[in-house]
Amino acid sequence: MAQEPSKIEALAGRRVLLVVTGGIAAYKALELIRLLRKAGAGVRCVLTRAGSEFVTPLSLQALSGDKVYSDLFSLTDESEMGHIELSRAADLVVVAPASADFLAKMAHGRADDLASTVLLATDKETLVAPSMNVRMWQHPATQANLATLRQRGVRFVGPDDGDMACGEYGPGRMAEPAAIQTAIAGYFAQPRPLAGRSALVTSGPTHEPIDPVRYIANRSSGKQGHAIASALARLGAATTLVTGPTALADPAGVTVRRVESARDMLAACRDALPVDVAVCAAAVADWRMAEAAAHKMKRGDQAELSLRLQQNPDILAALSAAGNQRPALVVGFAAETERVVELARAKRARKGCDWIVANDVSAETGTFGGDDNTVHLIAGDDTETWPRMRKQDVADKLAERIAERLGAAAEPS
Ligand code: PMT
Repeated sequence: MAQEPSKIEALAGRRVLLVVTGGIAAYKALELIRLLRKAGAGVRCVLTRAGSEFVTPLSLQALSGDKVYSDLFSLTDESEMGHIELSRAADLVVVAPASADFLAKMAHGRADDLASTVLLATDKETLVAPSMNVRMWQHPATQANLATLRQRGVRFVGPDDGDMACGEYGPGRMAEPAAIQTAIAGYFAQPRPLAGRSALVTSGPTHEPIDPVRYIANRSSGKQGHAIASALARLGAATTLVTGPTALADPAGVTVRRVESARDMLAACRDALPVDVAVCAAAVADWRMAEAAAHKMKRGDQAELSLRLQQNPDILAALSAAGNQRPALVVGFAAETERVVELARAKRARKGCDWIVANDVSAETGTFGGDDNTVHLIAGDDTETWPRMRKQDVADKLAERIAERLGAAAEPS
């Protein structure tokens, strides 16, 4: 297959960690290694036990020109290069072929061999080329695993439709090595207009302790903020995500600081300065207990209880007024349930940020915790209303706008 020269060139000098799992398509991994190396990429292989039933470590080693890793508990391998280092030394992790079993392990965070441990420990993006019988591919369990992994930002190439080694026909054939090479090259060829820039993103709720076992919180899931951190990192920004407690996995390629309270979040944000852009998507509690109880509060026999609250620091306002540490662009969010644009405009002025992204968080919109969002981007006197879209798409569009703005600011007048 003829390749687009500009994309294939993007492979030169890149390091790919190739995880080969058990499946008849494992033999195609050899051709993939050959194509990647021919294009100038370095390839290091991790072979699962099941994978070694189909392809030998010696053939992978001969083609990659590098040691092949398979054993989590090998003293020699761990002393030469530990599994954590192995998972991070590459620019991209590729799983080809990825069996149904391995997809399930990835989706469930299993780490019972070197390959699955590497996948769990990596801070790099992952591209997966599934390969399995058509019914295994179509099984609701596999499809659910796939949806989970997609939601976490894992990329996929294939599978293709075709005749299977088992005699059946349908989707499940691993994509051809040339197509996988193109997908890898496409990943590296993505424009990175924010390379050399730094970003800070806040996400999730904060927890404000009432006593050692209770806290004040809200319904933020962190989906919007985490997606923004991911999108900025994909465009090349060195991104720090300061997040309150969420159930989400750390986005790939992002430095993550986990915090609990608004005051912790402010301290972590200050530590991350200076940055070129800050995006405050966290639902920070406006109030905390004036004095959290040192011991679990007793129910007693009182019918009512009042909690005395005190205002929390405003992180967005603090970043907007950070003097010579102020990011060149400060973006806030406004969570409103009425007169969304009007109240958001006033909030932007009050907090001193440059842009504010207004969203309606009335219960019926499902914005808090949901997968979709409808936002208005308010920059100065201009307001743009974006159609309802996935939070990832809101994040990508916002990251592009940020790149344009920072790019324009850097151009000589
Ligand atoms: O997390 P998800 O489930 O994906 O939901 C996303 C979201 C609804 C939480 C997100 O899109 C959003 O609107 N985030 C801002 C929530 C919020 O607290 O809005 P606000 O209007 O109360 O605050 C305005 C701005 O000030 C926000 O940028 C907020 O981060 C910031 N703020 C607020 C209070 C405070 N003490 N410090 C702050 O920095």
